[in-house]
Amino acid sequence: MRRRKPKFKRRVKLILILVLVFMVGGKAGESIGAKAYDIYHLLTWKQSEEWELILVNDKHPLPERYTVNLVEAEPGKYVDERIYEYLNEMFVAAREDGIYPVIRDAYRSNDEQKRIMKNKVESYKNEGYPEFLARRSAKDWVAEPGKSEHQLGLAVDINADKTLCTNENVYAWLAENAHQYGFILRYPKDKEDITNTAYEPWHYRFVGTEAASKMYEKNLCLEEYVE
Ligand code: DAL
Ligand code: ZN
Repeated sequence: MRRRKPKFKRRVKLILILVLVFMVGGKAGESIGAKAYDIYHLLTWKQSEEWELILVNDKHPLPERYTVNLVEAEPGKYVDERIYEYLNEMFVAAREDGIYPVIRDAYRSNDEQKRIMKNKVESYKNEGYPEFLARRSAKDWVAEPGKSEHQLGLAVDINADKTLCTNENVYAWLAENAHQYGFILRYPKDKEDITNTAYEPWHYRFVGTEAASKMYEKNLCLEEYVE
């Protein structure tokens, strides 16, 4: 059986490499340093063992063979069955306050995510963007297939029943109350440089009531909370 090098030694080696890179100095050194830090982070970082705190983003793809038990929350809109009660309770509470949310999008398969990305790229190209810029701009709004938390069934895009209230009414209510039901605004305006995703006032992610309340009170996004 092959013996693994002790973790400590591997980490010391990585830290030495990082120090060397920083010693190169200058702009090039800084950007190589940032890349080296990303690599170090990916090598040493571990997913949370709590299912509701799983991090999926541009650096952390969906775990291989991830499976989810879905339940239909609204016609044609599916979520992980473990979050259904929380979502339902949140919608009931909103309605009691005269706010009428509807699910615009919830679970997506890999193929659906692919289609959404393709459409977004096409729409930028139709505006005259060259291919590479269309792809780069699309990523601000749509996660690459395999890197969207919609594929976990733990994220919902929530809008208004426009016959009864506006999207802004819904977004304002959610921003103040969703944490009580275990949901967080996943892509806040002041965290765009950390999430690498544009502000999306409609996109809510289930993380559990305890984590959601802490993140709300301390103004932390999921990356900051789990890392
Ligand atoms: N809009 C978010 C980033 C997604 O596509 O998952
Ligand atoms: Zn979304």
